[in-house]
Amino acid sequence: MSSTENGDFHVASNDVPWKVLRDGYHFKLLRTCPVTGTWVALFRAVAGSSVPPHKHIGAAEYFVLKGRIEIRGGVENSGVTAHAGDYGYEPNGIIHEKTCSPEPCEYLFINHGPLQYLDDDGGTLFVLDWMGIQEKWDAAPLVG
Ligand SMILES: [Fe+2]
Repeated sequence: MSSTENGDFHVASNDVPWKVLRDGYHFKLLRTCPVTGTWVALFRAVAGSSVPPHKHIGAAEYFVLKGRIEIRGGVENSGVTAHAGDYGYEPNGIIHEKTCSPEPCEYLFINHGPLQYLDDDGGTLFVLDWMGIQEKWDAAPLVG
């Protein structure tokens, strides 16, 4: 990773190792910004993995590189099924039920704020912001 005096930033993601976020879910943290709270990561998930219910505190954008992701139950349930090559925007404040990856997938995720993970009653389990994802990245083991 490198930044210039002008604020340009560049990272060769192929040179960044995959790390384990949790079982079956790998990531490469590409950028965090303490000024805006933005964080950018590549995610790679095995078939059958999922992201728990969450609320976006800040908009997010994704670009699917491989496989597919089912958001809000996928298109069969009035949600979104995002395939390789698809881009999506998720507005500030939106709540997502479990987001599933029925097949191996890889996607770029640009998050303009924290994610608030929710329990079954809509209460807060924890909030993941740019500092939290940075701490996870720093502590995460390499994919072995
Ligand atoms: Fe989401």
